[in-house]
Amino acid sequence: MSRSAHPAGPRHADVLPEGHYSAPAADLNELDPKVWAQTVSRDADGVVTVGGIDVKTLAEQHGTPAYVLDEADFRERARAWRTAFGQDADVFYAGKAFLSRAVVRWLDEEGLNLDVCSGGELATALSAGMPADRIAFHGNNKSVGEITRAIEAGVGRIVLDSFQEIVRVAHIAQSLGKRQRVQIRITVGVEAHTHEFIATAHEDQKFGIPLAGGQAAEAVRRALQLDGLEVIGIHSHIGSQIFDMSGFEVAAHRVVGLLKAVRDEHGVELPEIDLGGGLGIAYTSDDDPREPHEIAKALTEIVTRECESAKLRTPRISVEPGRAIVGPTAFTLYEVGTIKPLDGLRTYVSVDGGMSDNIRTALYDAEYSVALVSRRSDAEPMLARVVGKHCESGDIVVKDAFLPGDLAPGDLIAVPATGAYCRSMASNYNHVLRPPVVAVKDGESRVIVRRETEDDLLRLDVG
Ligand code: LLP
Repeated sequence: MSRSAHPAGPRHADVLPEGHYSAPAADLNELDPKVWAQTVSRDADGVVTVGGIDVKTLAEQHGTPAYVLDEADFRERARAWRTAFGQDADVFYAGKAFLSRAVVRWLDEEGLNLDVCSGGELATALSAGMPADRIAFHGNNKSVGEITRAIEAGVGRIVLDSFQEIVRVAHIAQSLGKRQRVQIRITVGVEAHTHEFIATAHEDQKFGIPLAGGQAAEAVRRALQLDGLEVIGIHSHIGSQIFDMSGFEVAAHRVVGLLKAVRDEHGVELPEIDLGGGLGIAYTSDDDPREPHEIAKALTEIVTRECESAKLRTPRISVEPGRAIVGPTAFTLYEVGTIKPLDGLRTYVSVDGGMSDNIRTALYDAEYSVALVSRRSDAEPMLARVVGKHCESGDIVVKDAFLPGDLAPGDLIAVPATGAYCRSMASNYNHVLRPPVVAVKDGESRVIVRRETEDDLLRLDVG
């Protein structure tokens, strides 16, 4: 992924250091629609607007830093997934990417289902009125309390992740006088081309039951014998931020192989398969994500073909996109605080947030884009590193990017494509307060998750 460039005219360096950056765009004022939410543009004064509101107004009304989420874009992406997969498939939005009650209502209205992976996510979904039968409950170590609550609420499916859990869920369901619909999560042994921490289908990791050595077949065998369980299918999630469809094809092939083995052994055709989420989005102009309709076509074709050759009825497919729906719909709006040019290296631009609102750069070496959004500038590009206010040198939001050389304290800059896994993984490190999520639509802004306050911090600190 390393790209080097030697653009003309950097302000603070004659020779640019090695790094992961492309040459600066010909015009830094341009906003690549690939990485920005759909309604983002610059107005006649050069100020960036989203959902019909300019960022200066948003900063005045809501402060910075703030996650600004384009509601129309979110709904449209959700709808595009729903439409692409059609009535014979289910789309479960992965709540871990970003969950709030407003989002749950939008999903419900757009006809999507919801994947939750903790009691907290389940509580959020239920409190916003998501029908329980459209919720899937995931996790490698769900507590007895969480399982009990999910079954009592009537969740549509629990995804079983281990041999212990098969017995545990069956037992709890039975003691509640219920038969729980379940899928069994397997690892298909695919090496997904993504960061090690977000790849999940190779065998040496904590999720799922390996297909290898007949373990997944044994899991199905045991689950089918238990009265408390209705086994509806097999689940596979190969990882996250994946562009290459071949991993999904191999996974689909192997999952169908297991369906066939189950049919041959038990005479049972499991009616559903879930191929998980994980589709990549554009964080920089170099990324080229697939459209939902291409993904739907590719997955449906492979499953249909594999089932035909195995003489199986084609199961109902479900998918669980999180990032691909919410990721591109939001940007983080920051105010520039201090600017520190280091000659021969780069210019450090400090913002009023940092690793507490975006841990992805530090954790996964993630790449982001950034732009000056409160005005136009035709100054020469400078190689910048956008850093936060935390007491840690790894507190980097954007590792290498070009910003105009006349950037000044008080300017607003924005980092696009922060809708997924930024607010949901935000922390209070250094007792920095977590930013709000502000939804914008049709010229109006609405706080859907409010900014944390010092009172919030002190409320938890009971002395
Ligand atoms: N389904 C399952 C079972 C999952 O574990 C995940 C993500 C998804 C669906 C949704 O994946 P998506 O479509 O959002 O890629 N914190 C990391 C990502 C961790 C993903 C965990 N599981 C990041 O910031 O990149």
